[in-house]
Amino acid sequence: MRLNAFLARAGIASRRGADELIKSGRVTVNGEAGQLNTVVGAHDLVAVDGEEVARQRLRYVLLHKPAGVVTTARDPQGRPTVVELVPAEPRVVPVGRLDADTTGALLLTNDGQLAHRLAHPRYGVEKTYVTDVEGDPGEDVLRRLRQGVELDDGPTAPARARRLGRGRVELVLHEGRKHQVKRMLAAVGHPVTRLHRSAYAGLTLEGLEPAEWRELEPSEVELLRTG
Ligand code: URA
Repeated sequence: MRLNAFLARAGIASRRGADELIKSGRVTVNGEAGQLNTVVGAHDLVAVDGEEVARQRLRYVLLHKPAGVVTTARDPQGRPTVVELVPAEPRVVPVGRLDADTTGALLLTNDGQLAHRLAHPRYGVEKTYVTDVEGDPGEDVLRRLRQGVELDDGPTAPARARRLGRGRVELVLHEGRKHQVKRMLAAVGHPVTRLHRSAYAGLTLEGLEPAEWRELEPSEVELLRTG
């Protein structure tokens, strides 16, 4: 990791601020003056003004997001945010978004590399949604959802869809476009009345009530990295 990224992750300064610190000669790596292009590994000792910089622990939190809570770090309308529901230190941020009225599985982390990977369309992370809709979709509607629905930003990719009961559908997607589930169901004539994400990248909400969270097991983190 670049020295400025290390300092930013440790909460010392922004990346640009870290560059200034490095240029002014206040940062050392293993006792030598750090440079803008210095790369820091797991065993390097970084200090600012002679004081050792503690590494920030990487944290991975799975939250059962309740309704009425926004997925941004701060809300101009003053609504509660998901970040306020989890421990403040080290600070974690959500991977992707759920609408304020959507409930369910939301991952938060300070591991920027993993967050970037999971949010990237190329990796096509699997997301499972359970949705209550107006009316009762039949097999023809389910087939359209599976094959792809024409939305204003292009057709959706093939998905899995099954009826769970009257007016209730499970949809498994590998895409994550804005309001995608609501737009897909509206496009097939069955507007969403309630939306819940029951699983994200294989992580389910087992044992978590709304607003509860847990840290991921190391084996789960490993699966997210490699899976
Ligand atoms: N699709 C939506 O429409 N809303 C969400 O919150 C998630 C997926």
